[in-house]
Amino acid sequence: MEINPISFFEAKLSDADFARLSKFIYNQYGIKMPEAKHIMLQSRLQKRLRALQMPSFSEYVDYVFSPAGSTEIVHMMDVVSTNKTDFFRENQHFEYLLDTVLPELHDICRQNFVKVWSAGCSSGEEPYTLAMVMSEYASKVRGFDFSILGSDLSTIVLDKAVTAIYPEERVDVIPYDLKKKYLLRSKDRTKPTVRIVPELRRKTSFMRLNFMDEAYNNVPNNFDIVFCRNVLIYFDRPTQEAVINKLCRHLRSGGYFFLGHSESAAGINVPLKQLKPTVFKRL
Ligand SMILES: C[S@@+](CC[C@H](N)C(=O)[O-])C[C@H]1O[C@@H](n2cnc3c(N)ncnc32)[C@H](O)[C@@H]1O
Repeated sequence: MEINPISFFEAKLSDADFARLSKFIYNQYGIKMPEAKHIMLQSRLQKRLRALQMPSFSEYVDYVFSPAGSTEIVHMMDVVSTNKTDFFRENQHFEYLLDTVLPELHDICRQNFVKVWSAGCSSGEEPYTLAMVMSEYASKVRGFDFSILGSDLSTIVLDKAVTAIYPEERVDVIPYDLKKKYLLRSKDRTKPTVRIVPELRRKTSFMRLNFMDEAYNNVPNNFDIVFCRNVLIYFDRPTQEAVINKLCRHLRSGGYFFLGHSESAAGINVPLKQLKPTVFKRL
């Protein structure tokens, strides 16, 4: 049977199906899906209907909750999660890292190796910015080295992060001298892209992790620095508290914790001391 593409375009997510999906997404992934996001969810999921050649949301929702639907849940979350990110996003954090945190860890704590976790790393711009900044520090301080772990829920963004290839316009914001050192330009000038240099890619690894998991068993312990920025805004307060507490189990005492600029840990019970509005130290 030939399926008319117009019918996909017009597919409507009923209130009942929206309620089933939003409850599931909140319970399993912590992401708030109030009624105000109904149209957004409907429009983001259109491409899944097209990919599966399904003409209606009722069929799609039944499929998602059927035993055969477990792989579809991964694809569904790829389109549901908001992955906006940038190189040098909220640059004050990277300046603080370079001017205050790294000298303190190296000069005062005598640490030559620093482990960083970019939790909710999206397509890799945040971990690679960290890698550039830390590499700059390493070039001035003999014997200093580092590793970076990036984790995310979405497999699509993780694939981009591992590949480390970005359209040229995405890297405009990177200072010229860092671009020269840490980016390789594609030879194909019809599709201008850049790739992060192998030296930085080697220091960076990626894994899939859902913050709602009971425990983060495959994540190493004793990170010195955790960046978890612009992720917790999608969660409600009890979920934020639970997630920060789980992240803190992987941050050593005295380690640094960074939130996004519109996020806060005020009024929630977590083992962190505030240093600046969005920078904390693990108690
Ligand atoms: C807006 S991006 C932030 C990226 C980066 N930290 C930054 O500040 O530019 C939020 C990321 O959190 C991820 N995320 C959302 N819910 C998650 C969950 N339950 N577990 C793990 N990652 C999640 C999304 O997939 C998305 O890539």
